[in-house]
Amino acid sequence: MASHEGAIGVNPNQYEEPMMKIPTMHIPGVSDTTDDTRTPFPLDQWYVAALGKELTDKPLARTLLCNKVVMFRDGEGKAFALEDRCCHRALPLSSGTVEACGIRCGYHGMLYNGQGQCLEVPGQDMVPPRAKVKKYHVEEKDSIIWIWFGRDEAAAPSCAPPDYTVHSSGDYIWDGSAFHYEAPYQLIHDNLLDLSHLGYVHLKTIGGDAKTHMNAEMKVKAEAKSVRVVRHMLNSAPPPTYTAAYPFKGLIDRWQEIEFYPSHLRIWTGAVDAGSEDINNPSRGGFHMRGFHGVTPETESTAHYIWTIATNPESNEEEVLKKVVDQTAMTFDEDKVVIEDQYANMLSFGEAPLVSIHVDAGANRARRIIDTLRTVAN
Ligand code: FES
Ligand SMILES: [Fe+2]
Repeated sequence: MASHEGAIGVNPNQYEEPMMKIPTMHIPGVSDTTDDTRTPFPLDQWYVAALGKELTDKPLARTLLCNKVVMFRDGEGKAFALEDRCCHRALPLSSGTVEACGIRCGYHGMLYNGQGQCLEVPGQDMVPPRAKVKKYHVEEKDSIIWIWFGRDEAAAPSCAPPDYTVHSSGDYIWDGSAFHYEAPYQLIHDNLLDLSHLGYVHLKTIGGDAKTHMNAEMKVKAEAKSVRVVRHMLNSAPPPTYTAAYPFKGLIDRWQEIEFYPSHLRIWTGAVDAGSEDINNPSRGGFHMRGFHGVTPETESTAHYIWTIATNPESNEEEVLKKVVDQTAMTFDEDKVVIEDQYANMLSFGEAPLVSIHVDAGANRARRIIDTLRTVAN
């Protein structure tokens, strides 16, 4: 895919607003979708519905892009998603039970298969032909459950869900979780594309010296549907999570490589002992943390943040993984507080103008991509 903006180096001392228009920092909760050429969210996309491990023997209810969905596995372990509403008297199917061939409503026991077709009405021989509920296209890949939302609800997905081989390659061990946000999904994008905040928000874990973060060399490259941000912090002090997980000798050369896509971000961070190897080398050693961040709108003003963190311990795998996961969860708790406070304040103050600074270069490009994808004519 051709890059339409090219790579830019962002010099903190010379930053000006980028040439292109920055999409207005719209305050969700105040809908801007009255114009029917716009959809509230990018469609014709795979979104992250859940981590595979979240689907056990119970139904999982989740509202995704304003759709109330129930997910479950059949007896063979295959994942399905249906509209979370029984067609008899509208009880959420998620309050029912999972069986080998589908999900049974918890009110009068109608049984539905993974296609949403009713298979059985207890006490009645005939199943009414119209007894069915909407089904969603779902695929489980690399331990992630993806769900397709298309402009044409009846159409099959036009592509396969993304790969995420960090989960399946065997080079890393990983775990993760799902957070719920009382804030719109694009504020999470902004946060993840701007890791300069580490030195202010995450001092107890992956932070470090705030000045080092704010002055880090940063390169931003935008494509039609992705943004890549690379930041390097050479000769910096290792933060607590790093020293807890890896035997660094002293100062470190640290990298942050962030890839944004409309449905998720991939963030590869890590470090080597300062001067020991080139941190541009794709197969560099040292300590690695690879984050997967599924950012799925729940509504226009709330979001699901479904994440995993993978690492490569030199030894004590389980112990290091636990440390990395615990500290990552603590870090994301800190982000959640900031982002929810930020959104509450935006609601209080309304659409008062906001000023961009150098750290926003990647986030502004991501906003522009989302803005474009929300236009129906696109
Ligand atoms: S409401 Fe589901 S079977 Fe009656
Ligand atoms: Fe953060």
